[in-house]
Amino acid sequence: MTSSILNGTENLTLVRGISPKGLAFVGSDFHGKKFPKMGMVLSSRNIRGKTIAPKCSLSASRPSSQPRFIQHKKEAFWFYRFLSIVYDHVINPGHWTEDMRDEALEPADLSDRRMIVVDVGGGTGFTTLGIVKHVDAKNVTILDQSPHQLAKAKEKEPLKECKFIEGDAEDLPFPTDYADRYVSAGSIEYWPDPQRGIKEAYRVLKLGGKACVIGPVYPTDWLSRFFADVWMLFPKEEEYIEWFQKAGFKDIQLKRIGPKWYRGVRRHGLIMGCSVTGVKPASGDSPLKLGPKEEDVSKPVNPFVFLLRLVLGAMAATYFVLVPIYMWLKDQIVPKGRPI
Ligand SMILES: C[S@@+](CC[C@H](N)C(=O)[O-])C[C@H]1O[C@@H](n2cnc3c(N)ncnc32)[C@H](O)[C@@H]1O
Repeated sequence: MTSSILNGTENLTLVRGISPKGLAFVGSDFHGKKFPKMGMVLSSRNIRGKTIAPKCSLSASRPSSQPRFIQHKKEAFWFYRFLSIVYDHVINPGHWTEDMRDEALEPADLSDRRMIVVDVGGGTGFTTLGIVKHVDAKNVTILDQSPHQLAKAKEKEPLKECKFIEGDAEDLPFPTDYADRYVSAGSIEYWPDPQRGIKEAYRVLKLGGKACVIGPVYPTDWLSRFFADVWMLFPKEEEYIEWFQKAGFKDIQLKRIGPKWYRGVRRHGLIMGCSVTGVKPASGDSPLKLGPKEEDVSKPVNPFVFLLRLVLGAMAATYFVLVPIYMWLKDQIVPKGRPI
C-alpha cells in the first residue's frame, strides 16, 4: 500500500496561488513519472517552479474536451444497474482492495463504537464493512442512489443491523448536526456537482464531526487522461482540498491511496487515489451558499443521447479495469526497486 499525507493548510496557499511556496514530495515526482519513496512527507518547494492554480469550477461543469459521460445521475444509476451484478467480484479484489480501504478509512478516526456514521454512495457496502469493524452496525446508515447496489449490501451479514436509504449525495435526507462521521468512498466521481455533496457532508455532521471523502485523482498520462475525461470526474488533489475549504471544513488532510503493485506511480489516476478529511468547526449549515441542483435523477432524458453516453462512458471505464492489470503485470516483471 502506498500512502502519504498532505495538509490542507499548506494546500490553501497552493490553491490561492498567493504564496511562493508549492507542494512537493520528498523522493517523488508529482507527475508520477518517477518511482516515489514510500511514506512521503510534505515539503515546501514549487512543483517544477510553478504555482498551481486549480480551477475548481471546471470540475463541476463539463467542457466539451471533458464530456464525463457517466458524471450524471441517470447515467450513473444505469451504469450501476449493470455493474452491481459483478461489482463485488470485479472491483474489490483487483481495484479497491481491503488493504486500500482500511488505509483510506484510517484518517476518518472511527474511534468509538457508539459513533453515528453515514456512508454516502455506500453501494454494495464494501467500505461499510470496513466501518463496522470500528463502529456498531446499528449506528451506521448506508445511502446510495442505486437500489441495485443497496440490495447487494443488504445481503451482507455484518451489515444486517445497518440502516439503508435510497437517496442523493447532493441532497441528504439527514438533519443538520446529525452524524459524528461522514464517509463517502468512490462516489464523488459520479456527482454532477461535487461541491454541493461536500457542503451536504458539512451540514449533516455534528460540531467537531469529521468527513472522509475517498476518490480518484486526475491522471497525468495522456491516454489515461483521455479515458478519464470520457468516463467521469477524476478531481485534482487541490480540488478536493478547495471543495472542503469552501464548505467550511478545518484541519483538512489528504492521504494518497493506491494499490501496492503500482509502486507509487500516479500517472494513470488511480481508481482510489486519495482520502481527504476535514473537521466541522461550528454547528449548523455550511457557510457556503449554492443555487439550485444541476440535475435530478427523476427528470426525463433523451433516450438516444442517454444510451450513447452510457455506452461511451462504460467503454472508457473498461480502460480503467485494464490499467491496474497492466500495472500488476509490470510489477511482476520489472525487478523490485526499479521504476515501472
Ligand atoms: C464505486 S461505487 C462505491 C461503492 C462503495 N462506497 C465502495 O466503497 O465500494 C459508487 C457508488 O456511488 C453511488 N452514487 C453515484 N452517484 C450518487 C449520488 N448522486 N448519490 C448517491 N449515491 C451515488 C453509485 O450508485 C455507486 O453505488
